Amino acid sequence: MKTAKSFPTNFLWGGATADFQYEGGFNEGGRGLLSRDFETNGSQANPRHHTLKLPNGKVITPRSSFILADDVPADVEPVFLADQYYPSHQAVDFYHHYKEDIKLMAGMGFNIFRFSICWSRIFPTGEENEPNQAGLKFYDDVINEMKKYGMEPLITICHDELPMNLVLKYNGWASRKVIDAYVKYAKTLFEYFGDRCRYWLTFNEINAVRGFGPTGVRKADGQARYQAAHNMFVASAKTVKLGHKLVPGGSFGAMFAMSELYPATCKPEDMFHHLQERRENWYFIDVMGRGYYPNYAEELWQRHGFEKITIDPADKEILKTGQLDYIAFSYYRSNITKKGDGWFNVGGSANPYLDKTPWGWPVDPLGLRYCMNEIYDRIQKPIFIVENGIGAIDQADENGYVEDDYRIEYFQQHLSAMADAINIDHVPCLGYTMWAPIDLVSLSTGEMKKRYGFVYVDMDDEGHGSLTRTPKKSYQWIKHVIETNGAAL
Ligand code: BG6
Repeated sequence: MKTAKSFPTNFLWGGATADFQYEGGFNEGGRGLLSRDFETNGSQANPRHHTLKLPNGKVITPRSSFILADDVPADVEPVFLADQYYPSHQAVDFYHHYKEDIKLMAGMGFNIFRFSICWSRIFPTGEENEPNQAGLKFYDDVINEMKKYGMEPLITICHDELPMNLVLKYNGWASRKVIDAYVKYAKTLFEYFGDRCRYWLTFNEINAVRGFGPTGVRKADGQARYQAAHNMFVASAKTVKLGHKLVPGGSFGAMFAMSELYPATCKPEDMFHHLQERRENWYFIDVMGRGYYPNYAEELWQRHGFEKITIDPADKEILKTGQLDYIAFSYYRSNITKKGDGWFNVGGSANPYLDKTPWGWPVDPLGLRYCMNEIYDRIQKPIFIVENGIGAIDQADENGYVEDDYRIEYFQQHLSAMADAINIDHVPCLGYTMWAPIDLVSLSTGEMKKRYGFVYVDMDDEGHGSLTRTPKKSYQWIKHVIETNGAAL
């Protein structure tokens, strides 16, 4: 049996980022406002909030639900409060550091870089007829800079965000109007960048819609969430079809959050609960990867308290003909579940066999191999690991240098598990983009101190710092792994 840590010669090695966590420049180049721009920073103990104003002028700060908080009145207006820090505004300023950052990525040997395009940089309100030229120019410059180093772009069209106008005017993805706005946006990207960009993702972690996710829908009960998800499925399928026409050699996936999930015990009730909870994720992958709603969809909807969603007659054909070419996923952790746990069990019960990061995320390298196998067994399309990494507290010395042996250990174990899935289990895997090449803002907490990068960025949780970039110890380590195409693992 072949057990060497070897990878296909054309294996794609790189890093991944998201615009509102990385890019900044929120009021430059004609960029419109995003739902994310009104989200404060937070911590594990203090959740992030949106800042909103009622018609009577009263300010409310509901807990953020990633796009806009649930259960807020329809007539709120977003506001910026002087005493709050909004991490998306500056993020770590890729907007002004892209040349330096791309050079640092090239220094690690990346042949691909996954980034998301900020929708409101291209269509500030989502509704313009013509795109914002300054926004297109920024990404044009980024792509050309990458190409200098032989790096392929992997573009996330929509990473957990919406132009704020679409959230307020249409109640986000609850409305089919947003399907049209999205397809127009995606078409523009294909027309401008399709000659240089082959790899695309229609959505980031689309299955997160079931719990807290990126729908922009207010007062989102189960039915509203699954209706929003349906509208996103249709938007994705239409976009894949369009991409096949407009992008020569293009390959189109979507990204799913794949925390592996184990039953807490072998008690039959826990096993069955695990099957049902697993289907909460498969639902998304099945529809987008196989092109039709699975047999268990109605049972799942009933579990969430409703009987059906509205599916236009033409939608079935669109889903069938707009299937994904590959399945991309993020993997950070595994969880366990048992009967009685809720249906969105991200935290799960504690797994006694696993250590946890300082943010309580269980570390489970074998879970990655398990996950790769599970997805391929089911969908039989190539997979792409587009996020994996460890959020840790780094102690930088006076020169900004970090000895991050814990990060090296994490990647050593996870990359080895990936190699086993490829070499022993023969799972076809296009590539691996680590989260994240360079420190950036945490999505869940808005913190800077939850660091993921191979490069340290001098910035604190309130945005203070020189933004100087300094490679960490792990930078040289990953460089060596990539230059040996994994043989050094
Ligand atoms: C994924 C997201 O869920 O996890 C990223 O796609 C996010 O945007 C990453 O940053 C890690 O999560 P966090 O909350 O630690 O930043």
